[in-house]
Amino acid sequence: MRVHVADHPLITHKLTVLRDATTPSPTFRALAEELVTLLAYEATRGVRVEEVVVTTPVAQAKGLAISSPRPLVVPILRAGLGMLEGMVKLVPTAEVGFLGMVRNEETLQPDIYAERLPDDLSNRQCFVLDPMLATGGSLIAAIDYLFARGAVDVTCVCLIAAPEGLAAVEAATAGREVTIVVGALDEKLNELGYIVPGLGDAGDRLYGTV
Ligand code: PRP
Ligand code: URA
Repeated sequence: MRVHVADHPLITHKLTVLRDATTPSPTFRALAEELVTLLAYEATRGVRVEEVVVTTPVAQAKGLAISSPRPLVVPILRAGLGMLEGMVKLVPTAEVGFLGMVRNEETLQPDIYAERLPDDLSNRQCFVLDPMLATGGSLIAAIDYLFARGAVDVTCVCLIAAPEGLAAVEAATAGREVTIVVGALDEKLNELGYIVPGLGDAGDRLYGTV
């Protein structure tokens, strides 16, 4: 598994405002979208492309185009939905599929409650969006689901990860083509499975549930 922890002052600045408990939902949503666009730049470094030639007003120019089959972007509902616009802004031709997952707050086990994905993901490059990588349970279940459908290459874009969750994803995906791009690697998980210092419940903060 490849892990890229973003190291850029703009990303850290935006994450700092996101973490602040006094940041209201509208600002939180706008910042989450901006952050994803910055992280997507790194996450798409390995996007599959093919050489093309275009005719400029002056001459022919060699260039690159995103190749077929198109990348599949998969936000994990609910909180991952807040990352979708930021991602498709950068890759507007991507196809979008959805996975709805919720973590049981007592057992911390993920449950898939909704799915809207192409049946056959053979040879597809997938980009999973989920802001919080805490125990890693949700991300492992999502990655397993995509590989079981035939995906060959999964890149996950997260805002914040806990070291325990990263280690769990690494152990569970050994030997498969998995990349994690994350805005910050935090200190630990607390006894309730929340990332410390983290930002609290990402879904609640995005959608004003608190
Ligand atoms: C949050 C978050 C991740 C998951 C991470 O979702 O968006 O999907 O928890 O936790 P894990 O790494 O321990 O699995 P939640 O289950 O709260 O659902 P929501 O997006 O609907 O708020
Ligand atoms: N899910 C969240 O939204 N936040 C955490 O800190 C952990 C899981």
